[in-house]
Amino acid sequence: MDMSTDIKDFPIPNLAGPIGVFDSGFGGLTILEGIRNRMPQFDYIYLGDNARTPYGTRSFDVVYEFTLQAVKKLFSFGCPLVILGCNTASAKALRSIQQNYLPFNAPDRRVLGVIRPTAEIVGKLSNTKHIGVLATEGTIRSESYSIEIEKLYPGSIITGQACPMWVPIVENNEFDKPGADYFVKDSIDKLLSKDPQIDTIILGCTHYPLLLEKIKKYCPSNIKIIPQGKYIAESLEDYFVRHPEMSSRITQNGTCKYFTTESRTKFRECANLFLKEDIQVERVTIN
Ligand code: DGL
Repeated sequence: MDMSTDIKDFPIPNLAGPIGVFDSGFGGLTILEGIRNRMPQFDYIYLGDNARTPYGTRSFDVVYEFTLQAVKKLFSFGCPLVILGCNTASAKALRSIQQNYLPFNAPDRRVLGVIRPTAEIVGKLSNTKHIGVLATEGTIRSESYSIEIEKLYPGSIITGQACPMWVPIVENNEFDKPGADYFVKDSIDKLLSKDPQIDTIILGCTHYPLLLEKIKKYCPSNIKIIPQGKYIAESLEDYFVRHPEMSSRITQNGTCKYFTTESRTKFRECANLFLKEDIQVERVTIN
């Protein structure tokens, strides 16, 4: 990596700017919504790599490469802090970005993920400590949730189920159509047949809250379902309390700008369904 080039890319240290939120597509909007509801005073920039979604079936190297490109783009927009609002990117790229990229290329910026904060909360919500994780193939294979939960709550039994069809269903705006029922029921049945004692299920992909009604329909009512937005927002607020040097660098005009690597029209139509508001969006290239 050419470190001098990267340093030139982000020449102003300790600058103030918006919080960047990144996802492979629309899923991170569920995280953005949670954060904005809790901290509406801040400025935000959302970036969806819709042209290259889904990430869930891609290799570690490719997810790292794409995620780093997105982080650099958000840094170039002036974001001092970027949230990977994507479990797959958090599982496959976050650690490398934090350990190998930031210290040498952008030491005054921070990148945070969504897996650790979700792992922290799930152990408090589960009574049986039998925890289910529904996520992309990449997140399940990475075993990130098992590793994090086991570290925090030793002895927990964590069972994962990949749901390869769920992201395409959401990205193609089919999440409230009858066809989605088959795939939602199928993945939940597979998860619960592996461990019938599961009492808490993490929706370990930020797209899945869009399928929440159907997920609830096919889950026994005693099982707690955990969408991440609210908990990531609480965790970020706590981070700001512990890191006032970062919260003081987030600009506060209550704005939110949206960028996509795909067509603006497609993004705006789908984002309206996620956010229930009309938004302006720009197309951007990040390779
Ligand atoms: N929304 C993403 C996640 O949380 C990724 C979906 C994908 O691109 O496969 O994992």
